[in-house]
Amino acid sequence: MERITLNIENRKSEVYIGKDWKTVNELLPAGGYIIITDENVRNIYGKDFPVCPVISVKPGEESKNLNTLGRLAQGLLGAGIDRSGFVLGIGGGVVCDIAGFLASVYMRGIRFGFVSTSLLSQVDASVGGKNAVNVEKVKNILGCFRQPEFVICDQKMLKTLPEDEYISGLAELIKTAVILDAELFSLIGQNVNRIKNADPGLLEDLIAKAVRLKASVVTEDEREITGKRMILNFGHTFGHVIETVTGMKHGFAVACGMAIACDISSATGYMSTAESERIKSLLNDFGLLKKHGVTAGQFGKMLLTDKKKEGSRINFVMAGPVGRAEVVKMEADEILKIYRSVISSE
Ligand SMILES: NC(=O)c1ccc[n+]([C@@H]2O[C@H](COP(=O)([O-])OP(=O)(O)OC[C@H]3O[C@@H](n4cnc5c(N)ncnc54)[C@H](O)[C@@H]3O)[C@@H](O)[C@H]2O)c1
Repeated sequence: MERITLNIENRKSEVYIGKDWKTVNELLPAGGYIIITDENVRNIYGKDFPVCPVISVKPGEESKNLNTLGRLAQGLLGAGIDRSGFVLGIGGGVVCDIAGFLASVYMRGIRFGFVSTSLLSQVDASVGGKNAVNVEKVKNILGCFRQPEFVICDQKMLKTLPEDEYISGLAELIKTAVILDAELFSLIGQNVNRIKNADPGLLEDLIAKAVRLKASVVTEDEREITGKRMILNFGHTFGHVIETVTGMKHGFAVACGMAIACDISSATGYMSTAESERIKSLLNDFGLLKKHGVTAGQFGKMLLTDKKKEGSRINFVMAGPVGRAEVVKMEADEILKIYRSVISSE
């Protein structure tokens, strides 16, 4: 078991990797807590949940909205959760994003923690204190920065994860390696089969490495003030459009977005073509690069709603060489022009 502490503005957020999730009781207050989960996770693990009120949402991205938030707030009121209460989110990235946001705004903010159950949420979504919901088709447009008191990442829970969800999670792991750690990138490349087979020891090591890397970035720049944290959005500018337009799973969409960002990074001299091909080849080894069918016109229209936009300029994340990334302010039109010339004009 490994414990990684994020120490931000004198507040601690503890991430436990390899801890048995059933010991979550040890971290909960004596009373006044409630569980937010989704129906899939509840069906599989509900019988072992701590004894308390439980509210489940429908699985998937479509639950990440204000209607769900309103329903959950009513549930908390009905369960008598007051300012001293505690929200425990048990689920993947969707549940963590919703539960974290709910706890952050309910009665102007109550305590919360997560049992993180998907690979994507263990390596990325549950760590770092970004909480959000979507409005209509715009992803994560209402949200806040607030750290969970704790996150438990028990990789035994990944055994029940559907295969495509597991693969989806690998995209954010590869992203972390591409932007922050060349050694981690090589380690993933050398162990494709062991990773596909979900080797538990290797997984614990990879999750711990990803969490440590994310923790170091978030500790330096929790609120994306210096720009350091923005590098975590590598692949997300195009990825979010693909996710929104096609409904593709987050990790697969981000993987396609990373492939585009690699092409743009190599076309603008941030990384060599060979490195760009190496990254795309690793994404392909895991079957992460699917045909998305989004047109240049659709990208153009939706880039204008990008959260990382300032006026007409987008904070675009360029990677290269492997293990490094930087944020470059570019006109949305300029990005699109490169996209049309290097990738597709359709
Ligand atoms: N806050 C952040 O920093 C951050 C970072 C990256 C992604 N995200 C968000 O995370 C979300 C994607 O997260 P996700 O991929 O975990 O999606 P998800 O939460 O929808 O989980 C994927 C599916 O797996 C199921 N599931 C989860 N754990 C399971 C388990 N142990 N066994 C069986 N089934 C299980 C869920 O019910 C769901 O059907 C997106 O909304 C994305 O925007 C947030």
